[in-house]
Amino acid sequence: KDKYAVFGNPIKHSKSPAIHAAFAEQCGQHMQYRAVRVELDGFQRAAERFFASGGRGLNVTLPFKQEAFAFADTLTDRARRASAVNTLSACEDGGIAGDNTDGIGLVRDMVANLGWQLQGRRIALLGAGGAARGVLEPLLREHPAVLMIANRTAARAHELADAFADLGDIVGGGYEVLAGHEFDLVINATSAGLYGELPALPEMGLAERSCCYDMVYGNEPTVFMRWAAQNTAWAVADGLGMLVEQAAESFYRWRQVRPATQPVINQMRQLLA
Ligand code: ATR
Repeated sequence: KDKYAVFGNPIKHSKSPAIHAAFAEQCGQHMQYRAVRVELDGFQRAAERFFASGGRGLNVTLPFKQEAFAFADTLTDRARRASAVNTLSACEDGGIAGDNTDGIGLVRDMVANLGWQLQGRRIALLGAGGAARGVLEPLLREHPAVLMIANRTAARAHELADAFADLGDIVGGGYEVLAGHEFDLVINATSAGLYGELPALPEMGLAERSCCYDMVYGNEPTVFMRWAAQNTAWAVADGLGMLVEQAAESFYRWRQVRPATQPVINQMRQLLA
């Protein structure tokens, strides 16, 4: 059986082993996939060992995505843009390829699963940390009309807007930059919800058929999802679909087979309840 794993810390609640097991069964792939808790200072050694002992591919989650970026011998454009890697693959030539499938996972969930159009839409992206940076390149490849990045620390949003300015019409700033504008899509990429908080959003308009997406998920609607519902968003979603889609893209890189994701999203949803 080909060996795969996810490295993280903490890793106990990772859904990746269940997701990849479901993909493997569905696609008839002989593989094992384990969750490994790696010591905070031990990523490089653990990754070297994993590949030296025949490991074929690794998913990497918090807090090691930047270290995985440094570990990779080659990078996809979207990984380089993200400055973070969530997927490592052993290559024929012995090198390790790094990719980042988070952004394409988000886009696929919105476009293919939820049926939301991105082209020509006015998007607000809340947050300017690693989660926001990781999804910007695939988002901008969908050609939104404008993308505003708003963050508690305005400077981080400005930096991101500058770094991606060549890919589209991007504005960065504190949450006040959103004031008085109307949006078709609002994406929450902050970790505020993990503390039960909502970013300090100003009065902003949601378009008639607006969509709101929280990259976080849970067994009940998040604070941001409740905000969206109160502001009469037309459609609201959490990040469970993104989680399954980023896994599917990793699986495809490793096995050259694309699993059907909807049944696995449904299965994961049932496990959450
Ligand atoms: P991640 O990888 O989840 O993006 P991160 O790089 O630490 O983690 O970024 C966390 C993001 O959530 C940042 O945009 C952060 O805002 P700051 O850059 O101003 O710190 C945002 N965030 C976290 N807690 C928040 C809160 N209570 N209110 C608003 N934004 C918050």
